[in-house]
Amino acid sequence: MRAAVLRLVTPIVWRVPGHGARKLYGFARAEQGSRIDLLHAAHRTDAPARRVLYLRHALDETRHAQMFWRRSTDLRLAAGRDPFPPPVADTERLFERLGELRFLAFVHRGERRGRQQFERYAAHFSARGDVRTRALFEAILVDEQRHESYTRALLVELAGSERAARRELQRAALWEAWRTWRRAGRTLATAVYTLAMIAIYLVAGAVVLTSAIFGRRDRRAASWHLPTSAAAAAPAIAASPATSPAATLAAAPVAAGTLSDAVPAASRQAAMATAAAPPGTREVP
Ligand SMILES: [Fe+2]
Ligand SMILES: [Fe+2]
Repeated sequence: MRAAVLRLVTPIVWRVPGHGARKLYGFARAEQGSRIDLLHAAHRTDAPARRVLYLRHALDETRHAQMFWRRSTDLRLAAGRDPFPPPVADTERLFERLGELRFLAFVHRGERRGRQQFERYAAHFSARGDVRTRALFEAILVDEQRHESYTRALLVELAGSERAARRELQRAALWEAWRTWRRAGRTLATAVYTLAMIAIYLVAGAVVLTSAIFGRRDRRAASWHLPTSAAAAAPAIAASPATSPAATLAAAPVAAGTLSDAVPAASRQAAMATAAAPPGTREVP
Protein backbone atom coordinates (compact mmCIF):
# COMPACT_ATOMS: atom_id res chain seq x y z
CA MET A 1 0.00 0.00 0.00
CA ARG A 2 2.70 2.45 1.07
CA ALA A 3 4.87 1.50 -1.92
CA ALA A 4 1.93 2.05 -4.29
CA VAL A 5 1.22 5.52 -2.85
CA LEU A 6 4.91 6.39 -3.06
CA ARG A 7 5.06 5.32 -6.71
CA LEU A 8 1.96 7.37 -7.47
CA VAL A 9 2.92 10.65 -5.76
CA THR A 10 6.69 10.72 -6.41
CA PRO A 11 6.50 12.14 -9.97
CA ILE A 12 4.02 14.78 -8.80
CA VAL A 13 5.70 16.08 -5.64
CA TRP A 14 9.14 16.52 -7.19
CA ARG A 15 7.73 18.55 -10.08
CA VAL A 16 6.11 21.22 -7.92
CA PRO A 17 8.26 24.37 -8.39
CA GLY A 18 10.52 24.96 -5.37
CA HIS A 19 9.35 21.81 -3.64
CA GLY A 20 12.46 19.76 -4.45
CA ALA A 21 14.76 22.03 -2.44
CA ARG A 22 12.26 22.15 0.43
CA LYS A 23 11.92 18.38 0.50
CA LEU A 24 15.67 17.81 0.48
CA TYR A 25 15.99 20.29 3.31
CA GLY A 26 13.31 18.36 5.20
CA PHE A 27 15.43 15.22 4.81
CA ALA A 28 18.46 17.13 6.09
CA ARG A 29 16.54 18.04 9.25
CA ALA A 30 15.29 14.48 9.71
CA GLU A 31 18.85 13.16 9.41
CA GLN A 32 19.98 15.74 11.93
CA GLY A 33 17.29 14.55 14.33
CA SER A 34 18.42 10.92 13.91
CA ARG A 35 21.98 12.00 14.59
CA ILE A 36 20.99 13.51 17.94
CA ASP A 37 18.96 10.43 18.94
CA LEU A 38 21.89 8.14 18.13
CA LEU A 39 24.37 10.27 20.05
CA HIS A 40 22.06 9.99 23.06
CA ALA A 41 21.86 6.24 22.55
CA ALA A 42 25.65 5.98 22.40
CA HIS A 43 25.89 7.96 25.61
CA ARG A 44 23.23 5.93 27.46
CA THR A 45 23.77 2.33 26.41
CA ASP A 46 25.67 0.09 28.83
CA ALA A 47 27.26 -2.07 26.09
CA PRO A 48 30.54 -0.76 24.59
CA ALA A 49 30.01 -2.74 21.36
CA ARG A 50 26.60 -1.12 20.77
CA ARG A 51 28.03 2.30 21.69
CA VAL A 52 30.50 1.98 18.81
CA LEU A 53 27.68 1.02 16.40
CA TYR A 54 25.51 3.94 17.53
CA LEU A 55 28.40 6.39 17.16
CA ARG A 56 29.17 5.18 13.66
CA HIS A 57 25.50 5.47 12.78
CA ALA A 58 25.42 9.03 14.18
CA LEU A 59 28.39 9.97 11.98
CA ASP A 60 26.60 8.61 8.92
CA GLU A 61 23.49 10.65 9.70
CA THR A 62 25.61 13.76 10.20
CA ARG A 63 27.07 13.27 6.74
CA HIS A 64 23.63 12.64 5.21
CA ALA A 65 22.27 15.85 6.73
CA GLN A 66 25.14 17.79 5.14
CA MET A 67 24.67 16.12 1.75
CA PHE A 68 20.94 16.83 1.64
CA TRP A 69 21.45 20.41 2.77
CA ARG A 70 24.12 21.04 0.11
CA ARG A 71 21.90 19.75 -2.69
CA SER A 72 18.98 21.78 -1.39
CA THR A 73 21.24 24.86 -1.37
CA ASP A 74 22.31 24.19 -4.99
CA LEU A 75 18.69 24.01 -6.12
CA ARG A 76 17.75 27.18 -4.22
CA LEU A 77 20.65 29.14 -5.69
CA ALA A 78 19.91 27.84 -9.19
CA ALA A 79 16.36 29.17 -8.77
CA GLY A 80 17.75 32.57 -7.67
CA ARG A 81 16.60 32.17 -4.06
CA ASP A 82 18.40 32.31 -0.72
CA PRO A 83 19.45 28.92 0.62
CA PHE A 84 17.89 27.49 3.76
CA PRO A 85 19.90 27.88 7.00
CA PRO A 86 21.94 24.94 8.35
CA PRO A 87 19.56 22.17 9.43
CA VAL A 88 18.62 22.15 13.11
CA ALA A 89 16.50 19.49 14.81
CA ASP A 90 15.00 18.85 18.22
CA THR A 91 15.31 15.63 20.14
CA GLU A 92 12.47 13.67 21.68
CA ARG A 93 14.88 11.74 23.91
CA LEU A 94 13.57 8.52 22.42
CA PHE A 95 16.19 6.28 23.97
CA GLU A 96 15.24 7.40 27.48
CA ARG A 97 11.51 7.31 26.80
CA LEU A 98 11.34 3.98 25.00
CA GLY A 99 14.23 1.99 26.45
CA GLU A 100 16.92 0.42 24.26
CA LEU A 101 14.83 -2.45 22.87
CA ARG A 102 11.87 -0.31 21.73
CA PHE A 103 14.28 2.38 20.54
CA LEU A 104 16.02 -0.15 18.29
CA ALA A 105 12.68 -1.34 16.91
CA PHE A 106 11.70 2.30 16.22
CA VAL A 107 15.02 3.08 14.50
CA HIS A 108 14.84 -0.09 12.43
CA ARG A 109 11.36 0.78 11.17
CA GLY A 110 12.54 4.29 10.26
CA GLU A 111 15.58 2.99 8.41
CA ARG A 112 13.51 0.51 6.42
CA ARG A 113 11.00 3.21 5.50
CA GLY A 114 13.80 5.61 4.50
CA ARG A 115 15.52 2.96 2.39
CA GLN A 116 12.30 2.19 0.46
CA GLN A 117 11.64 5.88 -0.07
CA PHE A 118 15.18 6.66 -1.26
CA GLU A 119 15.17 3.69 -3.66
CA ARG A 120 12.05 5.10 -5.27
CA TYR A 121 13.55 8.60 -5.50
CA ALA A 122 16.83 7.31 -6.97
CA ALA A 123 14.83 5.53 -9.70
CA HIS A 124 12.75 8.66 -10.29
CA PHE A 125 15.77 10.94 -10.77
CA SER A 126 17.51 8.35 -12.89
CA ALA A 127 14.51 8.34 -15.24
CA ARG A 128 14.51 12.15 -15.32
CA GLY A 129 18.21 12.31 -16.12
CA ASP A 130 19.06 14.27 -12.95
CA VAL A 131 22.42 12.62 -12.35
CA ARG A 132 23.42 14.60 -9.29
CA THR A 133 20.26 14.02 -7.29
CA ARG A 134 20.20 10.36 -8.29
CA ALA A 135 23.84 9.97 -7.15
CA LEU A 136 22.96 11.66 -3.85
CA PHE A 137 20.21 9.16 -3.06
CA GLU A 138 22.27 6.19 -4.22
CA ALA A 139 25.23 7.18 -2.02
CA ILE A 140 23.00 7.58 1.03
CA LEU A 141 21.18 4.31 0.29
CA VAL A 142 24.38 2.31 0.89
CA ASP A 143 24.45 3.57 4.49
CA GLU A 144 20.71 3.20 5.00
CA GLN A 145 20.83 -0.46 4.01
CA ARG A 146 23.57 -1.05 6.56
CA HIS A 147 21.59 0.80 9.26
CA GLU A 148 18.52 -1.27 8.50
CA SER A 149 20.39 -4.54 8.77
CA TYR A 150 22.47 -3.89 11.90
CA THR A 151 19.50 -2.52 13.87
CA ARG A 152 17.52 -5.66 12.98
CA ALA A 153 20.38 -7.90 14.15
CA LEU A 154 20.72 -5.98 17.42
CA LEU A 155 16.98 -6.09 17.96
CA VAL A 156 16.89 -9.88 17.67
CA GLU A 157 19.90 -10.14 19.96
CA LEU A 158 18.36 -7.96 22.66
CA ALA A 159 14.82 -9.37 22.34
CA GLY A 160 16.12 -12.94 22.58
CA SER A 161 14.49 -14.38 19.46
CA GLU A 162 13.19 -13.54 16.02
CA ARG A 163 9.62 -13.90 17.27
CA ALA A 164 10.18 -11.52 20.21
CA ALA A 165 11.81 -9.03 17.82
CA ARG A 166 8.74 -9.10 15.55
CA ARG A 167 6.51 -8.50 18.57
CA GLU A 168 8.63 -5.51 19.53
CA LEU A 169 8.37 -4.15 15.98
CA GLN A 170 4.58 -4.37 16.20
CA ARG A 171 4.59 -2.48 19.50
CA ALA A 172 6.84 0.16 17.98
CA ALA A 173 4.38 0.48 15.07
CA LEU A 174 1.52 1.03 17.52
CA TRP A 175 3.52 3.62 19.44
CA GLU A 176 4.35 5.42 16.18
CA ALA A 177 0.67 5.43 15.16
CA TRP A 178 -0.24 6.91 18.57
CA ARG A 179 2.46 9.55 18.21
CA THR A 180 1.28 10.45 14.69
CA TRP A 181 -2.33 10.71 15.89
CA ARG A 182 -1.32 13.01 18.76
CA ARG A 183 0.72 15.23 16.46
CA ALA A 184 -2.16 15.41 13.98
CA GLY A 185 -4.53 16.25 16.85
CA ARG A 186 -2.24 19.06 18.01
CA THR A 187 -2.01 20.48 14.51
CA LEU A 188 -5.78 20.26 14.05
CA ALA A 189 -6.45 21.86 17.46
CA THR A 190 -4.11 24.75 16.61
CA ALA A 191 -5.87 25.31 13.27
CA VAL A 192 -9.34 25.21 14.89
CA TYR A 193 -8.24 27.59 17.65
CA THR A 194 -6.79 30.06 15.11
CA LEU A 195 -9.97 30.00 13.00
CA ALA A 196 -12.18 30.40 16.10
CA MET A 197 -10.13 33.41 17.28
CA ILE A 198 -10.34 35.06 13.86
CA ALA A 199 -14.13 34.54 13.81
CA ILE A 200 -14.50 35.98 17.33
CA TYR A 201 -12.42 39.07 16.47
CA LEU A 202 -14.38 39.67 13.28
CA VAL A 203 -17.79 39.32 14.98
CA ALA A 204 -16.76 41.42 17.99
CA GLY A 205 -15.31 44.09 15.68
CA ALA A 206 -18.55 44.24 13.67
CA VAL A 207 -20.65 44.52 16.86
CA VAL A 208 -18.50 47.35 18.29
CA LEU A 209 -18.52 49.24 14.99
CA THR A 210 -22.30 48.91 14.58
CA SER A 211 -23.06 50.02 18.13
CA ALA A 212 -20.65 52.98 17.75
CA ILE A 213 -22.41 54.18 14.58
CA PHE A 214 -26.01 53.71 15.77
CA GLY A 215 -25.27 54.85 19.33
CA ARG A 216 -23.93 58.17 18.05
CA ARG A 217 -27.04 58.69 15.91
CA ASP A 218 -29.35 57.90 18.87
CA ARG A 219 -27.47 60.29 21.18
CA ARG A 220 -27.66 63.05 18.60
CA ALA A 221 -31.44 62.60 18.17
CA ALA A 222 -32.12 62.57 21.95
CA SER A 223 -29.87 65.49 22.95
CA TRP A 224 -31.22 68.98 23.70
CA HIS A 225 -30.22 71.63 21.19
CA LEU A 226 -31.27 75.16 20.34
CA PRO A 227 -33.24 75.81 17.20
CA THR A 228 -31.39 77.93 14.67
CA SER A 229 -32.96 81.31 15.68
CA ALA A 230 -32.35 80.75 19.43
CA ALA A 231 -28.79 79.62 18.80
CA ALA A 232 -28.12 82.85 16.89
CA ALA A 233 -29.32 84.91 19.87
CA ALA A 234 -27.42 82.92 22.52
CA PRO A 235 -24.04 84.72 22.21
CA ALA A 236 -25.67 88.11 22.67
CA ILE A 237 -27.49 86.95 25.78
CA ALA A 238 -24.39 85.38 27.26
CA ALA A 239 -22.44 88.62 26.64
CA SER A 240 -24.80 90.59 28.94
CA PRO A 241 -23.56 90.03 32.54
CA ALA A 242 -26.35 92.04 34.13
CA THR A 243 -29.03 89.84 32.74
CA SER A 244 -30.51 87.44 35.30
CA PRO A 245 -31.27 83.84 34.32
CA ALA A 246 -34.98 84.55 34.50
CA ALA A 247 -34.59 87.61 32.34
CA THR A 248 -32.42 85.64 29.96
CA LEU A 249 -35.05 83.02 29.52
CA ALA A 250 -37.76 85.67 29.21
CA ALA A 251 -35.69 87.73 26.80
CA ALA A 252 -34.75 84.89 24.52
CA PRO A 253 -36.61 85.15 21.27
CA VAL A 254 -38.84 82.24 22.00
CA ALA A 255 -41.18 82.08 19.16
CA ALA A 256 -43.96 79.63 18.76
CA GLY A 257 -42.63 76.56 17.10
CA THR A 258 -38.96 77.16 18.10
CA LEU A 259 -37.77 76.75 21.71
CA SER A 260 -41.24 75.66 22.77
CA ASP A 261 -40.78 72.64 20.52
CA ALA A 262 -37.60 71.60 22.25
CA VAL A 263 -38.57 72.35 25.89
CA PRO A 264 -42.05 71.63 27.24
CA ALA A 265 -43.88 74.65 28.66
CA ALA A 266 -44.09 73.27 32.21
CA SER A 267 -40.35 72.66 32.30
CA ARG A 268 -39.70 76.15 31.03
CA GLN A 269 -41.89 77.72 33.72
CA ALA A 270 -40.25 75.65 36.45
CA ALA A 271 -36.83 76.69 35.28
CA MET A 272 -37.82 80.35 35.25
CA ALA A 273 -39.35 80.10 38.75
CA THR A 274 -36.24 78.40 40.11
CA ALA A 275 -33.95 80.94 38.57
CA ALA A 276 -36.05 83.84 39.91
CA ALA A 277 -36.30 82.50 43.49
CA PRO A 278 -33.99 84.14 46.09
CA PRO A 279 -30.93 82.14 47.17
CA GLY A 280 -31.66 79.62 49.96
CA THR A 281 -35.21 78.96 48.89
CA ARG A 282 -34.40 76.60 46.02
CA GLU A 283 -35.15 72.95 46.51
CA VAL A 284 -32.32 70.56 46.54
CA PRO A 285 -33.08 67.69 44.16
FE1 LIG B 1 20.40 8.67 6.97
FE1 LIG C 1 19.97 5.96 8.47
